[in-house]
Amino acid sequence: MATDLLIHELGPKGDGVHRSPRGNVYVDRALPGDRVGVDITRDEAGVLRGDLVRVIEASPDRVKAPCPNYDVCGGCTVQHAGDDFYKHWKIEIVRDALRKKGLNPKIWREAVFLAAGGRRRATFTAVKKHNIVTLGHFRRRGRDVTDIATCLITDPAIMDLRATLATSIGPILPEGKTVSFFLQAVNGQFEIVITGPLGRTGKPDPQLREALLLLAKKSNVGRIAWRATPNDTAEIIVNLHPLHATFGKLDVALPPYAFLQPTQEGERALVEAVMAALPSTGKFADLFSGCGTFTGPMLERGPVDAFEDVASAIRALDKATGTRPLKAIRRDLYRNPLRRDEANRYDAIVFDPPRAGAEEQVQNLASGRVPILIGVSCNPTTFARDARILVDGGYRLDSITVIDQFTWSHHVELVAAFSKQPGRGPRGKRPVGGKKKRR
Ligand SMILES: C[S@@+](CC[C@H](N)C(=O)[O-])C[C@H]1O[C@@H](n2cnc3c(N)ncnc32)[C@H](O)[C@@H]1O
Repeated sequence: MATDLLIHELGPKGDGVHRSPRGNVYVDRALPGDRVGVDITRDEAGVLRGDLVRVIEASPDRVKAPCPNYDVCGGCTVQHAGDDFYKHWKIEIVRDALRKKGLNPKIWREAVFLAAGGRRRATFTAVKKHNIVTLGHFRRRGRDVTDIATCLITDPAIMDLRATLATSIGPILPEGKTVSFFLQAVNGQFEIVITGPLGRTGKPDPQLREALLLLAKKSNVGRIAWRATPNDTAEIIVNLHPLHATFGKLDVALPPYAFLQPTQEGERALVEAVMAALPSTGKFADLFSGCGTFTGPMLERGPVDAFEDVASAIRALDKATGTRPLKAIRRDLYRNPLRRDEANRYDAIVFDPPRAGAEEQVQNLASGRVPILIGVSCNPTTFARDARILVDGGYRLDSITVIDQFTWSHHVELVAAFSKQPGRGPRGKRPVGGKKKRR
């Protein structure tokens, strides 16, 4: 029999949380204020999970999820939340992470919420069973793949390409094995990166390459690459025309599987927030630069040194045409972060690390004297940890802009501006022997 629970809050991954002395119960697709009937189980990690059987009394913030795949698809965790609730929750994720580290920016800039339907990169999973192809996402809380022909968050052009693939990839898929198809749209062109075994041998043979070439020609796909596993480098199988991205005035020929911000509008909002904090002239560094999303616009204000660990991204930036001088430097910023003396050469530094954050790097920056630091992050928790280090080192957290380009998910992005406070040493104290500022 289902257990009757009241949902008290949303958890960090968007699950409804019922607090109880036995421990929290996490209920997928529930909102605070919902009274729900659930089947409670303990998952492999020992966490109590409630499988939603029915909503007994709906929260006033509950709406009907607009997507027809909402019940089966593994994405879009909080599509059942009303707009006001959703926006407030997203901003609170960032506020809460900062609060936990005792941080409060001087200015909260207006949060940016982007419309659904702009995702220009998506990965679909394909499986062929008894010659029937399913191309979609893993089923919600399941291990089998379900067809996803409609997706409200993804660019319709990507969904059209998915539809073409669904009817044409049957002959190249091995029976019963999952293969993933990463589709990316850039400047009106498409790239496909296939990961997994293909054909009878598991690798693209000449016949299979021919089939992929025909597919590319038919569907305006500029490039198709393949790799056996996610750890392998993608091999280009079809190269009809290079895939170019433009960042500011910088034209970059993208390598396969290049990192791009997930939506064009999100990229625009992030660049705008970064540029609003960047000085109008100076010498700059772009750390974790990828292929140059920020490097390009920054170049319009002065020379930029771009640091990044992925060799293909650095090669692409090195060959990029546009405003100069740009130096593209391959460097592992976790093992070998910019030293304080190296950082001090710049007038401003932008850092946009992966979800793990940039703890090692900010430790070196905190004690330096770069006047302006601009952080971009898709993980408020690691960002808050890193921001605390900077503030303890004498930086002030001037502003935060919350940017939501991950509509209906629990993910959120932010841009933060920091400035070094004159005369402030580590932990916000004046350096020993430092002069007191006159009022
Ligand atoms: C969130 S992405 C940002 C990329 C770029 N700023 C953009 O907006 O397109 C993080 C970048 O950090 C790079 N990266 C990951 N680990 C790294 C490391 N140890 N050292 C330097 N860069 C790294 C990734 O390859 C990726 O390009």
